[in-house]
Amino acid sequence: MTVTLTNPLRVGLRQERVVSPQCLVIFGASGDLTSRKLVPALFELFRQRRLPTEFAVLGCARRPWSDEEFRGQMAEALGDLIHEHRGAWDQFAAGLFYEPVDLQQPEHLVRLAQRLEVIDRHRATRNNRTFYLSVSPKFYGSGCSALAAAGLLSDPERSRVVIEKPFGRDYGSAQELNRIVQTSAKESQVFRIDHYLGKETVQNILVLRFANTIFEPIWNRNYIASVEITAAETVGVEERAGYYESSGALRDMVQNHLTQMLALTTMEAPGRFDAEAIRNEKAKVLQSARLADELEPWNCCVRGQYGPGGTARRPLTGYRQEPGVNPNSTTETYVAMKLFIDNWRWQGVPFYLRTGKRLPKRMSEVVLTFREAPVHLFDAAGGSPTANQLILRIQPDEGAGFRFEVKSPGSGMRSRPVDMHFSYDESFGEPSDEGYVRLLADAMLGDPTLFTRGDEVEAAWRLYTPLLELIEDSPWQLPVHPYEARTWGPAAADNLLGRDGLMWRRP
Ligand code: BG6
Repeated sequence: MTVTLTNPLRVGLRQERVVSPQCLVIFGASGDLTSRKLVPALFELFRQRRLPTEFAVLGCARRPWSDEEFRGQMAEALGDLIHEHRGAWDQFAAGLFYEPVDLQQPEHLVRLAQRLEVIDRHRATRNNRTFYLSVSPKFYGSGCSALAAAGLLSDPERSRVVIEKPFGRDYGSAQELNRIVQTSAKESQVFRIDHYLGKETVQNILVLRFANTIFEPIWNRNYIASVEITAAETVGVEERAGYYESSGALRDMVQNHLTQMLALTTMEAPGRFDAEAIRNEKAKVLQSARLADELEPWNCCVRGQYGPGGTARRPLTGYRQEPGVNPNSTTETYVAMKLFIDNWRWQGVPFYLRTGKRLPKRMSEVVLTFREAPVHLFDAAGGSPTANQLILRIQPDEGAGFRFEVKSPGSGMRSRPVDMHFSYDESFGEPSDEGYVRLLADAMLGDPTLFTRGDEVEAAWRLYTPLLELIEDSPWQLPVHPYEARTWGPAAADNLLGRDGLMWRRP
């Protein structure tokens, strides 16, 4: 049975702010992220009239492209979209420029500063600059230092730097990177991206919790039995073996995306709605989080790696056979783990996190399972009543669901579970923007609410330090269990919950 929560609204509810005049400088402009995410997001902002006419994008990379070549590359990447919106593209593309820059060469930075002055004059961008580091993470620190040395970060009101993930590889390297970055710029100038925070449904965790009165009284250890956070993907490693081999699912997904969903689900209500208040609460709750067994972490974490699978018609390659992957690789493509949060609200409630590539279904969700009714008065379908569950569907089918027991029709008094659904699509009827649209706009507006602060990133790394150290020092204690592609991960992950009398949700 399905119940729709609201009548479809289908009214224009968007409240969008227009970015102030500025030049967005993208380092790594010849890379994949620029053509696949950043320029499409900027073009979307342009089409939504959220970019001013006094706006420019300066692509920078080592390739000796001209402005025209850069425009051509971006046009190719946007493909059909450009044919549908030819006029808009022509106007947008007139604000795209390119400068060959190697961030490690001080004289290139001098040339860059001169080029920015020319752009400021021609496009009236008023010395406002956002520098986006879409380069290899090993250049984040030196890139910030180089920008600072060239005087390009000296005005905290007019210059910002956006840093892609991963921010560090572990607690120590994140601390060191923060130290370097914070020597080059004020924390208020630094925007660390986690694209999950750009998702409407991830932001909705806050609204659902703090704009309604019914959730807060039960959002704690007295009513919630366990919480499950999943980010499942059907794709494999694709062409990213070079990066992924030295990262793995723990660094690629858990430390950032899953941890952000955990923080928003468990933080206390902020004193007010602003970036500092929200980020204080997120950092605070992460500081109370810990692995369920810190001394023997292999008891609370399972790593897996996808092997070959699929069907005879559509066979799927195993991770070790993917191009660029070491045939004996022990990099995990799947992680499941159990955490606790040692504070008054959550003491004793298990949090189960899992993520994996090449799973049967693409879906990210947060599921809160409530405690069972203390007394079972009625016969239940399946023997015992199903615990109430609140399901926050992050993607796809964005929305939320609630599972509860109702009386089965008929003369007896049997209960059975039903689901109530809220769907963004049905209620609002317009697709949400890609996360990068929101995040780019916010960075250029100088609104850091949806970006991770330095101490938050460090707290997230510290949480997983026992696991990272174990994998480094004695990997045999946390082996990668093979799982067939397009299955729900290794059996050991089922046992992790099985030991607590639970099963992973399989939507
Ligand atoms: C990225 C990871 O941060 O997130 C990728 O590096 C992963 O490995 C991606 O595929 C998942 O993002 P989304 O938005 O598709 O869930």
